[in-house]
Amino acid sequence: MYRLLVTGQKGQIGQAIRDRIQDQGWDVLFTDIDTLDITNAKQVQSVFKRFKPDVVVNASGYTDVDKAEYDTAAAESINAYGVYLLAIQCHNFGALFIHFSTEYIFSGHGRRAYLEDDTPTPLNVYGRTKLQGEQYIKTYLSRYIIIRTSWVFSEYGQNFVTTMLSLSRETAPIRVVNDQIGCPTYAGDLANLVVDIAKDYHAETGRYRFGDYNFCSDSDSDSDSDSDSDSDSDRNSGVSWFDFAYAVFEELDKYKPGEQGRCLIGVTSEEYASIATRPKNGILDCHKISLIFRPSDWRCKLRHVIAITMT
Ligand SMILES: NC(=O)c1ccc[n+]([C@@H]2O[C@H](COP(=O)([O-])OP(=O)(O)OC[C@H]3O[C@@H](n4cnc5c(N)ncnc54)[C@H](OP(=O)(O)O)[C@@H]3O)[C@@H](O)[C@H]2O)c1
Repeated sequence: MYRLLVTGQKGQIGQAIRDRIQDQGWDVLFTDIDTLDITNAKQVQSVFKRFKPDVVVNASGYTDVDKAEYDTAAAESINAYGVYLLAIQCHNFGALFIHFSTEYIFSGHGRRAYLEDDTPTPLNVYGRTKLQGEQYIKTYLSRYIIIRTSWVFSEYGQNFVTTMLSLSRETAPIRVVNDQIGCPTYAGDLANLVVDIAKDYHAETGRYRFGDYNFCSDSDSDSDSDSDSDSDSDRNSGVSWFDFAYAVFEELDKYKPGEQGRCLIGVTSEEYASIATRPKNGILDCHKISLIFRPSDWRCKLRHVIAITMT
């Protein structure tokens, strides 16, 4: 039977995969840090030896971008060393490695969207450790798919959308950064992509070549947001965190009119003064994957997340 090993099952992408990979007739082993700590070489080796996966999906990671600045050893251990251990075992067992990376490997100094083969120059520890993880994969494996994504939100766990929703009844102003732009991505889209890649690999249809893919949810909105264009050229043109927060409250108002008391204030990155420096331009060019797999509209998925979270 076709065997898939998934790490980090309790994270938001891990949970999204769990909910979408059922009924494929595959043998799927879901693990979390308690059952497979990816930084524990013996444990990694023993799980591979026992399960002999055909595909490994690494949904684990050290994802606290600010904390990584002072908890550097832990970030390196999980995002780089743990990925190295998984890559070595994927090599030993001939497994396909599917891994998630981030737009934070780029500086964001450029004005255009980042392509898969642009040169990475991370600004912060999180980005640097994620890049190290990518480099280990590329050193030890030819059979890998790295999905670079950004601004992941979902109905699972804590993320930007759930944080905004929990602040929605606050009367104190909510300060949100307005000079960093990126592409919101629904975790369910990433999970559906993983299932599609695994199906393709199993059926040997060769739609996905090994390598790097940028992937974000679409901004082909049918909503009545401020954007007045939904042409092809405007897809993935990105939004600021402020725009994203605005969209959350706009959709929330439609879902539960008149219940919110909050006030949004746009601030610059300098005014917000977070610990880690973040790229101003985090837009990923998703043309390469769009020829194979179509994501959903993030605004539509935002409505879905609000409906689930607020009931
Ligand atoms: N969220 C985003 O916007 C975003 C954007 C681009 C790329 N990514 C990448 O996508 C992946 C998943 O992100 P996510 O948003 O789903 O993250 P998440 O919600 O923070 O989940 C990460 C999971 O990894 C687990 N984990 C931590 N250390 C581990 C270890 N040593 N062994 C096994 N599991 C461990 C965590 O467990 P504990 O909670 O118990 O620590 C958590 O369940 C990460 O690699 C991340 O870098 C995320």
